[in-house]
Amino acid sequence: SQKSAIDEIAKGFEINTEKLKEIIESFRNEMNKGLASHGQTVPMVPSYVTGIPTGKETGTFLALDLGGTNLRVCQVNLEGHGNVTLKQQKYKISEPLKNGEARQLFDYIADCVDKFLVEFNIGSSTGEKLDLGFTFSFPVDQTAIDKGNLVSWTKGYTASGAVGKDIVYLLQDSLNRKGVPVKVNALVNDTVGTLLAHAYKYPNTLLGVIFGTGTNGAYFDKISNIKKLRSFSSKADHMIINMEWGAFDNERRVLPLNMFDNKVDRKSNNPRKQAFEKLISGMYLGEITRNVLLNLIDRTLLFNGYSSKDLNNQYFFETEYMSNIESDDTSTLEKTKRILEESLNLPSTTLTDRQIVKRICQMVGLRAARLSSAALSAVISHCNAIESGCNVGIDGSLFVYYPFFKERIKSALREFFGPSADKIELEVAPDGSGVGAALAAMLSS
Ligand code: BG6
Ligand code: GLC
Repeated sequence: SQKSAIDEIAKGFEINTEKLKEIIESFRNEMNKGLASHGQTVPMVPSYVTGIPTGKETGTFLALDLGGTNLRVCQVNLEGHGNVTLKQQKYKISEPLKNGEARQLFDYIADCVDKFLVEFNIGSSTGEKLDLGFTFSFPVDQTAIDKGNLVSWTKGYTASGAVGKDIVYLLQDSLNRKGVPVKVNALVNDTVGTLLAHAYKYPNTLLGVIFGTGTNGAYFDKISNIKKLRSFSSKADHMIINMEWGAFDNERRVLPLNMFDNKVDRKSNNPRKQAFEKLISGMYLGEITRNVLLNLIDRTLLFNGYSSKDLNNQYFFETEYMSNIESDDTSTLEKTKRILEESLNLPSTTLTDRQIVKRICQMVGLRAARLSSAALSAVISHCNAIESGCNVGIDGSLFVYYPFFKERIKSALREFFGPSADKIELEVAPDGSGVGAALAAMLSS
């Protein structure tokens, strides 16, 4: 009965090829809706970045990157020929800053920029303010390259007083009040930054993607395809679209949500939002797994029916544990044992317990990768890029650290595209969005 209970749970996490195709088709429809009109579920946000970097750009720019896990301040030197050198410093964003008042959050960010300039002895030789590109990885309703109102927070942020406000204004205001000699002249999403930075190196790049705390993608589309941008005129023919695909299927028409997903969603601080992201990204995978484990415990099918204080705590089963458990190839699952008994303080576990935990991690991790592939397939088909092949620049802790994530995506891409899938290059674009923000600052200045 233990086995059949787990098989039953496994069914709820399965996405077969047919379902995958159905999701891709729906994803493509949603993309078209988002391109046709404002206010759609997948908002397909125009970035107002119209130039494609040639790799020849040069200059020195500041970049600020408020991503998933860290805040980074960088000075980026574009050397031409696709080369970049940078100085950078990472700063922590504490939970109280994420969930307090926006003004305090932006004041803290301005302080970090100030500290960085002092530490690296960076100043302006002309007395003019230094140009800065801001990578802000949240949904923004962008109206110009240096203007955009926050639509909603995601990834656990809730800071009050920012939703509906222009993010560039909020940051500039903090910088001005603190006398930091910097002008924010570009606002980009992390996916847009990643795309720009990757395209600077590899001209064949179509997509910039994040699989990290959250998930999202940005790609180059023909301006003529962006039907909702009626009054926009430009000499360029392409613009980067920040898709905000984390919101895909908030209506729950095609995503096969199970009871564990529903629970995670209901207890999150943005219920009924970011449906797709909640099945894929690092912030949620551990939490889904935790809920499955608790269910098995309550049915006395795992750990002899005992949980621990830590395992009972929301978000305490980290996605990083899943990475370590999935890569545990010791015959007695020793790494898994340590995580369960030492990090999570569970009473002593049996090998069968640990095998079950590993199997649950595999189910959750595999589904995340297969759904991720659906987003990639949809964009690549939309752009008719399969025959010519394309490069996808990817950043984020999940893609970089989660074992088999890339292989699982690749194998699902093959189910959809057949052998042509091998013309899709999935590459890590490490810390790309800082460089991307600098490129945007340059394109804008
Ligand atoms: C970083 C980028 O490397 O990855 C950020 O610089 C991005 O812009 C982040 O948001 C995403 O990864 P994670 O795992 O921190 O969410
Ligand atoms: C969330 C944000 C999005 C960001 C993504 C990856 O989905 O809404 O803007 O790109 O996380 O960091």
